[in-house]
Amino acid sequence: MKLKNFIQLALLASVIMFTAPSCVKEGPMGPAGDNGTDGTNGTDGAAGSVTCLACHSGTNMAKKASEFAMSAHSSGAIAVDYAGGRAGCARCHSHEGFVQFVELGINDLPVANPSAWECSTCHGIHETFEGVDYALRINAPVVPVAAANGVMDLKGSNNLCGTCHQSRSAEPGTDKPGANYTMSVRTYPHYSAQSNVVFGNGFAEIPGSVAYPTKGTSAHLTMTGGSCVGCHMGTFTAKQGGHSYIPSLKACNDCHGGTPGTNYNYGGIQTDTQGKLDQLRDKLLALGVITKTTVDGVDSYSPKAGSVPMVQAQAVYNYFGIKYDRSLGVHNPKYVKALLVNTLEALNK
Ligand code: HEC
Ligand code: HEC
Ligand code: HEC
Ligand code: HEC
Ligand code: HEC
Ligand code: HEC
Repeated sequence: MKLKNFIQLALLASVIMFTAPSCVKEGPMGPAGDNGTDGTNGTDGAAGSVTCLACHSGTNMAKKASEFAMSAHSSGAIAVDYAGGRAGCARCHSHEGFVQFVELGINDLPVANPSAWECSTCHGIHETFEGVDYALRINAPVVPVAAANGVMDLKGSNNLCGTCHQSRSAEPGTDKPGANYTMSVRTYPHYSAQSNVVFGNGFAEIPGSVAYPTKGTSAHLTMTGGSCVGCHMGTFTAKQGGHSYIPSLKACNDCHGGTPGTNYNYGGIQTDTQGKLDQLRDKLLALGVITKTTVDGVDSYSPKAGSVPMVQAQAVYNYFGIKYDRSLGVHNPKYVKALLVNTLEALNK
């Protein structure tokens, strides 16, 4: 059935439900009473189909589908092939795994035929049918995979994103406190610590000259029009935003005001962050706690397994976490700056 027909039918059905006489068995009728006084006229209700059509109009869904076709979510290239079927990975790496996790609360089922994201990965069933009811499968605060990181409220719809885009491990000093730490080749938060950066939570907060901001208070998280959806799903313009999830420069400029920026590198934040990341990488190479591999002229780096002083393991964790966040500081300028400056200071002592 076409959705439009379905909606009309649904509305008709609800009209019938409310006007149909009840079928309860009744006793004999009593004498008629006096006529009552006329009531006041009621206010007009909203036209029945308007609320539904705000979203389910002719082209809106098709537009969303076209935007979505631009997103790596819809191809699932890395995601599905590599980790979509594996127990423990599937909850974030395939449609089936995510739905199992959200609806059944089970996160370690292997998936036989994993597929990429589709509309119904994120959108489930309506609850109120009002204008803000996107029928998202989840919007409660993010329960962390690494329990030590604590619950993070990224605000409403954004918690959907955070359920997948979060760290998978606690930083070394919280994971196994001590003077030394035994690193593995995966001593990093995973490729997906964006929520932790935005919230300002779960990295190794090595003491130093720059104060760490209070968790959950950054303007990019708390302001209306901020958080993941505000920046990545702003009104689709110039091939950005909406369901492409490509950060919307218009959203940055609308909120910041002043002379509009022409890229995300506001005030040189991304250049500055990249510079500090490079310094940190060189320091970690010199200390021998990360290794470099070059394939086809492309350098890549990974942690080196073995026991090292705690602060070095924490520095490795911070380096890869901030690198894989991939916003180069934009997600939370103050937190990222504090982490990088203080980590470099501690290693250079
Ligand atoms: C705020 C936007 C919004 C409003 C308002 C809204 N919907 Fe939806 N609806 C959606 C989205 C998004 C989906 C999921 C899209 C998909 O799965 O293709 C959806 C899915 C549905 C589906 C399931 C379609 C399918 O193919 O499985 C039905 C049925 C539906 N809505 C009916 C309604 C009715 C009836 C109303 C009004 C009473 C309504 N919706 C109002 C956004 C909205
Ligand atoms: C809590 C959710 C979550 C879990 C669990 C998870 N991942 Fe991921 N992973 C992600 C997200 C989100 C990304 C994409 C991040 C991005 O694009 O910035 C990702 C990216 C990756 C990448 C791509 C790296 C690249 O080259 O860009 C690989 C490989 C990967 N994950 C492997 C795994 C494996 C293997 C497992 C299970 C052992 C796993 N993941 C479990 C969320 C998760
Ligand atoms: C990765 C998760 C995700 C996927 C996949 C997804 N959506 Fe959405 N969608 C969202 C979120 C989050 C919002 C709410 C945005 C907000 O809070 O403003 C939304 C909002 C919407 C809305 C209402 C907003 C509007 O501008 O009309 C519609 C309609 C919609 N989605 C349709 C779709 C369709 C159709 C698909 C598949 C082609 C799809 N979505 C796939 C996350 C998703
Ligand atoms: C079910 C888990 C899941 C959910 C929910 C989810 N993501 Fe993702 N996201 C991923 C994975 C995994 C990747 C990597 C996909 C790949 O490269 O194959 C990814 C990729 C991305 C990318 C990189 C896209 C690109 O085209 O390279 C962005 C940006 C992103 N997600 C933002 C969001 C936002 C914003 C939300 C919430 C509206 C969201 N994601 C919801 C798992 C998820
Ligand atoms: C202040 C705006 C802003 C907020 C808030 C924000 N992002 Fe981003 N995000 C960006 C920018 C800018 C980039 C870097 C894009 C670039 O340089 O190409 C980025 C990069 C990313 C990437 C890597 C995409 C890629 O193609 O490399 C992912 C994944 C992502 N963000 C997910 C999220 C999630 C999940 C949230 C919420 C927890 C979030 N973002 C909140 C602006 C934002
Ligand atoms: C919802 C409003 C809003 C949006 C959207 C937004 N910002 Fe911001 N941004 C702010 C506010 C407010 C501050 C000042 C915060 C503070 O000082 O704590 C800020 C601070 C910054 C800073 C730090 C500036 C400094 O001097 O410390 C940078 C860089 C930045 N934003 C870049 C971006 C980029 C790039 C985007 C888009 C991808 C973006 N912002 C989107 C509100 C926003």
